[in-house]
Amino acid sequence: MHILQALVFSLGMGISSISALPAPLSVATAFSRISTELDSLSLGNCSTPHAVLPLNSTSVQLPAPLSNLTLKHIAIGRGTQNYTCANSTSAAVPFSVGAAATLFDASCIAEQSMNLLHEMPAVMGSAPIGSLGFLAELLSHTTNSSNLILGEHYFNAAGDPVLDLRLSGLSDWIVATKTASVDAPQLSSTANQNVAWLQLERLNGSGIEAVYRVETYQGSAPATCSGLNKTVVVQYAAEYWFYG
Ligand SMILES: *[C@@H]1O[C@H](CO)[C@@H](O)[C@H](O)[C@H]1NC(C)=O
Ligand SMILES: *[C@@H]1O[C@H](CO)[C@@H](O)[C@H](O)[C@H]1NC(C)=O
Ligand SMILES: *[C@@H]1O[C@H](CO)[C@@H](O)[C@H](O)[C@H]1NC(C)=O
Ligand SMILES: *[C@@H]1O[C@H](CO)[C@@H](O)[C@H](O)[C@H]1NC(C)=O
Ligand SMILES: *[C@@H]1O[C@H](CO)[C@@H](O)[C@H](O)[C@H]1NC(C)=O
Ligand SMILES: *[C@@H]1O[C@H](CO)[C@@H](O)[C@H](O)[C@H]1NC(C)=O
Ligand SMILES: *[C@@H]1O[C@H](CO)[C@@H](O)[C@H](O)[C@H]1NC(C)=O
Ligand SMILES: *[C@@H]1O[C@H](CO)[C@@H](O)[C@H](O)[C@H]1NC(C)=O
Repeated sequence: MHILQALVFSLGMGISSISALPAPLSVATAFSRISTELDSLSLGNCSTPHAVLPLNSTSVQLPAPLSNLTLKHIAIGRGTQNYTCANSTSAAVPFSVGAAATLFDASCIAEQSMNLLHEMPAVMGSAPIGSLGFLAELLSHTTNSSNLILGEHYFNAAGDPVLDLRLSGLSDWIVATKTASVDAPQLSSTANQNVAWLQLERLNGSGIEAVYRVETYQGSAPATCSGLNKTVVVQYAAEYWFYG
């Protein structure tokens, strides 16, 4: 796993900080420790009998999944939340126009450790997007995992969120609608940058009835459009839990 650490060191330049350490060191330290924990692990295609959706972490809780549904997959989504600004005055507020993210298979990490799983959004959210596909490819070769990319998340022409896992050879996909939204936990006294936790349910699809977006890392719009371009793209990561 030392190749991974070296890679992360070299990619680390310019990464925003997740702690008091200089940014590249902070990310490299996290990756180094996490890669040690992952060393003995097969990273893809695990069942998740011990994973517990962290619904009690928010002050207002999302509704629990229906009891007739089972947890099928856990992914880390890494991508952007997109907003538009009608004009760049301080009176204008960014308007959400969707998101795009790659979904990385995290079921085996969840089975190993919930704490480790919940660290992944901040770690992956701090790494440059362009490096992650390469990292997943590298990790899949150093573990017994054939495909760490579980699927993709985007918005369709109708403006509805799509989570499509067919990239990885599964038949599962969902066009969803938001059925509940609660503020992400407030972790410090500074403004909460983390997008809301969501419950999403099926409009169309196959094999998936509900999806939860939890443990979000960043992605919130700036408070106003002051000084911003018409298109505003904000990096984010989150856990996605799939029930069917
Ligand atoms: C990889 O697969 C081999 C053969 O199935 C097994 O012996 C080994 O323990 C596996 N390694 C990991 C990291 O799962
Ligand atoms: C892993 O995937 C293969 C092929 O899709 C499937 O046959 C197998 O049951 C899966 N294993 C687990 C633990 O989900
Ligand atoms: C939240 O749920 C987890 C898992 O069920 C449990 O371990 C933890 O004690 C709960 N925390 C609170 C504050 O209820
Ligand atoms: C689960 O139960 C609800 C009502 O309680 C029902 O509408 C839904 O079709 C059921 N879903 C599955 C996958 O059985
Ligand atoms: C810019 O936005 C502000 C606040 O919404 C509005 O009052 C103003 O008319 C807009 N200006 C232009 C040129 O659209
Ligand atoms: C969001 O932005 C990303 C990156 O710029 C882009 O690839 C994607 O198509 C955008 N999606 C939407 C719905 O605006
Ligand atoms: C659901 O998706 C399928 C496949 O894309 C499509 O043929 C069908 O028209 C969709 N149904 C609805 C109600 O949108
Ligand atoms: C706005 O767009 C210009 C040209 O693409 C770019 O150079 C600039 O950095 C952008 N500004 C912001 C605040 O994103």
